[in-house]
Amino acid sequence: MDEKKDVLILAVESSCDETAAAVVKNGREVLSNIISSQIALHTLYGGVVPEIASRKHIEKINQVIETALAEAGVTLIDIDAVGVTYGPGLVGALLVGVAEAKAIAYAAKKPLIGVHHIEGHIAANYIEHKELEPPFLCLVVSGGHTHLVRVEDYGRFKILGRTRDDAAGEAFDKVARAIGLGYPGGPKIDKVSKEGDPDAVLFPRAHVGDSPYDFSFSGVKSAVLNYINGCRMKGEEWNQADVAASFQKAVTDVLVENAMHAVREYGAEKFAIAGGVAANSALRGAMKEACEKQGIDFYYPSPVYCTDNAAMIGAAAYYEYLSGTRHGWDLNAVPNLKLGER
Ligand code: KG4
Ligand code: ZN
Repeated sequence: MDEKKDVLILAVESSCDETAAAVVKNGREVLSNIISSQIALHTLYGGVVPEIASRKHIEKINQVIETALAEAGVTLIDIDAVGVTYGPGLVGALLVGVAEAKAIAYAAKKPLIGVHHIEGHIAANYIEHKELEPPFLCLVVSGGHTHLVRVEDYGRFKILGRTRDDAAGEAFDKVARAIGLGYPGGPKIDKVSKEGDPDAVLFPRAHVGDSPYDFSFSGVKSAVLNYINGCRMKGEEWNQADVAASFQKAVTDVLVENAMHAVREYGAEKFAIAGGVAANSALRGAMKEACEKQGIDFYYPSPVYCTDNAAMIGAAAYYEYLSGTRHGWDLNAVPNLKLGER
């Protein structure tokens, strides 16, 4: 009998401010997941400084990969392929991971698989939900992206909607800075909102006229700034937790509303969230409730698989591996890579 061999992927992720490597078995079993975060470093500057990010990736990447292999208890000989994020992201940051992955794959004579960062975020859902298979709808909300996607098959996507301006995470980060919470904004707003009243201030829920699935977050961000400036000019006090909670509610309301519109329109039976903002407790709660109301299954990754990590890249690379995707030694970083592009 033909015994099915396990497939081990060594995955590398360096598209923004996390240097990460992981070993993933058969796309769903994480043998190791190492993340070296630069958050503390960038906090000094109030946001990610691309040049510093690239330098730090170079410093950390070898050690992160070695630890990932050691923790998984494997060597490069055991690995079947090397997967790496090659876009979208910061070009200098991406280049570090791509160059490293190419060098390892070449030296170890293993196939190289370039992975789209958003495909990775979506695949994060496969890790803890062994039963989840396409088709399903997925809302990808991160620092750089806000996409409502129909996952038609592994590696096959249809983008239903996207943001017209700021990404959801970007809005969290900018508002956090404006209300004095600092960087990284998302987790801080999430935390302080628990002590605030989400109905204290009514911020606008933007709808993009010609597309029910597109998003816009620059308006709500400006509304928060105007509210605070208005209070300051009138010499009135404003409550940080109330503003944070009200802003968070305005964003999650729109995300839930547009997502459920798509669920009904497409007759989806499964709905997933992904990306850094998917770690937000209010969004998780609201989506869960909305999916229950629709009578559909709701999937979300643990917070560690929501924010940038390499395990999700390993999960996506596995399905690309199965479908025959192989990249050459000319693979380059593509900062504005489109989803579904090869
Ligand atoms: O996916 P990710 O790690 O990187 C990108 O691909 O962009 O997402 C980072 C974003 C940041 O904007 C961060 O503020 C946001 O995700 N984020 C959160 C939470 N945790 C991270 N936003 C809201 N609530 C959270 N708990
Ligand atoms: Zn990301």
